[in-house]
Amino acid sequence: MTIKVGEKIPSVTLHTMTKDGPKPISSDDLFRGKKVAVFGLPGAFTPTCSAKHLPGFVKKAAALKKKGIDEIVCLSVNDAFVMGAWGKDQKVGNKVTMIADGSADFTKAAGLELDLTARGLGLRSQRFAMVVDKVVVKSLDIDPAGTFEKTSAEAMLTRL
Ligand code: BEZ
Repeated sequence: MTIKVGEKIPSVTLHTMTKDGPKPISSDDLFRGKKVAVFGLPGAFTPTCSAKHLPGFVKKAAALKKKGIDEIVCLSVNDAFVMGAWGKDQKVGNKVTMIADGSADFTKAAGLELDLTARGLGLRSQRFAMVVDKVVVKSLDIDPAGTFEKTSAEAMLTRL
């Protein structure tokens, strides 16, 4: 069942890349006490994600923060090495926090999974954008496979 507005985000362990290697971070710690724009996507380095989705949030980071967002999180069912490398490649700096949901614990608990087994990608995340305020989901938008309309940074900005 897909997570709904008004529900708390799942309590799971995620990972992020640091200068000392991958580091676990609990979703509770990641979202506690903050207003977070989190977007999820099918995979690091994949075409729409690399050409549009992540760059849009990097470009609009300041505008989102002006509208009250404290942190922007990019979440994907990839490992922390891949998410770290993708963040470097896309020059996210400290504008976007790259979060690895390598075992899909968050994605499955939120009901946001996308089965791309037939395409050789295994279980991944749907393309989504959420605003989470102090661990509670305030908005959730999902783009059906092959579309990119509702989950962009620009779309989120118009709704904030
Ligand atoms: C996408 O960017 O939408 C995508 C990437 C890989 C597999 C499926 C979709």
